[in-house]
Amino acid sequence: MIKKHSKSSGISLPIKPLALKAKKMGSLKVNDQFEPTMFIIFGGAGDLTWRKLVPALFDLSQDRSLPAKFAIIVVDHIKLGDSALRHRLHDGIDKFSRFGKPKVQVWNQFAPHIYYQQGDFTKLQTYTALGKHCAKLEKEWGTKAQRIFYMATPPSMFGEIPKYLSRAGLARDRQRARIVIEKPIGYDLASARALNAVLAASFNESQIFRIDHYLGKETVQNILAFRFANPLFEPMWNRRYIDYVTITVAETVGVEHRGGYYDHAGALRDMVQNHLMQLLCLVAMEPMVSFEADEIRNKKVDVLHAARPIHRDEVPQSAVRGQYGSGRDGGKQVPGYREADGVARDSQTETFVALKLFLDNWRWQDVPFYLRTGKRLPQQASEISIQFRAVPHQPFPPEASLGWLPSRLILAIQPVEGIVLGFQAKYPGPKMQLRPVDMRFSYRGSFAAPSPDAYETLLWDVMKNDATLFMRADQVEAAWQLLMPVLEAWQATAPCDFPNYPAGTWGPENTQGLLAPGHRWPLPTELLAAGNNEKTL
Ligand code: BG6
Repeated sequence: MIKKHSKSSGISLPIKPLALKAKKMGSLKVNDQFEPTMFIIFGGAGDLTWRKLVPALFDLSQDRSLPAKFAIIVVDHIKLGDSALRHRLHDGIDKFSRFGKPKVQVWNQFAPHIYYQQGDFTKLQTYTALGKHCAKLEKEWGTKAQRIFYMATPPSMFGEIPKYLSRAGLARDRQRARIVIEKPIGYDLASARALNAVLAASFNESQIFRIDHYLGKETVQNILAFRFANPLFEPMWNRRYIDYVTITVAETVGVEHRGGYYDHAGALRDMVQNHLMQLLCLVAMEPMVSFEADEIRNKKVDVLHAARPIHRDEVPQSAVRGQYGSGRDGGKQVPGYREADGVARDSQTETFVALKLFLDNWRWQDVPFYLRTGKRLPQQASEISIQFRAVPHQPFPPEASLGWLPSRLILAIQPVEGIVLGFQAKYPGPKMQLRPVDMRFSYRGSFAAPSPDAYETLLWDVMKNDATLFMRADQVEAAWQLLMPVLEAWQATAPCDFPNYPAGTWGPENTQGLLAPGHRWPLPTELLAAGNNEKTL
């Protein structure tokens, strides 16, 4: 077990230091250094605002701090007053805030910052009324404020809202007006380009914040810290020492209540184009020169530019798709994907994807990157496994190295948060015998501070105008470009074997066929090996 760090000597995380002037006012933390800010949430009467956005803003008000002058303006088409909205958002905070249910006094301080505005997203008057509301608040505050427009609407509105914001003059302030958009950013390369063009017609790229919530996770940010704040592994982080890399994002859940959306998306669009591509970029990128947003984003997009194109006729050798049938989740029987609400009974949508990629550059030439993600797999586990090459010469007699495994480094993203290094050690006794062992770092064991929710980090960064953890237009398009041949080939040929894996298994059998001889998909259960039965390292 890696020795516990003192609380103050932990890894320095790649986020800017917390503002020092934060002070407690009642129980809301406010910070005079932050610019007054309005979070304007379109579609704010929906699930995302209730479950994620407002609990994250509330948590910021309890933890890092918000500006003394801040407002949350929810815009939606349904009839709802300020007080009904506040009541609903209170319920969301009760359920999802990491600080638990707020005390009456704390809620009474937070609630007056929330406003509701009813309006049709496709009518200019909604935006002019919004502009007046913002101007009124600014007048009360005696100062101009940042205006952060968050599109929490169905994607059909993504192309509309920016146009209206622009027509109403609300995008004009290049410094203070920002727009936040979350996936799906397009349905394919053409629609992603079209959406980026609509955004670019109204906003500068520096005003656009494209969220991939994986980038807000501490363990994902820690990939950069681990690689570039330590000289230890970087000299070996290349084709000379690394045999292959696997990136797994496995979920035990099915599509839940999202069948309607998911059946038109599928795992490649839902997970690979965004989250898995981000993980790939962070693992494979070159060292950044500075911690500037565009420097890091340039290095990440370089990875996608280096990806070897997958030709349409080679898709079967590079990609495997699957769909779960009925099976078992833990002890209980669960229905197949096609039985979920909102899913076509003969759906051909994939709920599992495995991909083999190569990066054509000096560092990674011919090193396979195997990516896989799926729903209804046996275990929730997101992890990156770096498999090192075998030693060039093995001097030990065969009987000494029974069970010998090449060294492996696992970056565990969730639910286990940590890093495991597997290597060979001498087994105690008179003979030279080798056995695999591991060294472990766990977030929970090393740091007292809990990991904040990704949205907390990301909303804070939008407020600070720091785009480091957000996707730039060119990166989104490069990811689509890489995956288009797979999407096209799959669309052209219907799968003949769906459903091809039972719920509760590791996906279709032909996933093994992607692997080169001697390579294997690591089982996340190995994380728990070596006498450590705790789920959290
Ligand atoms: C979302 C996908 O982006 O990420 C979901 O739409 C998926 O299908 C989710 O379940 C996974 O996120 P997390 O943070 O739970 O790993």
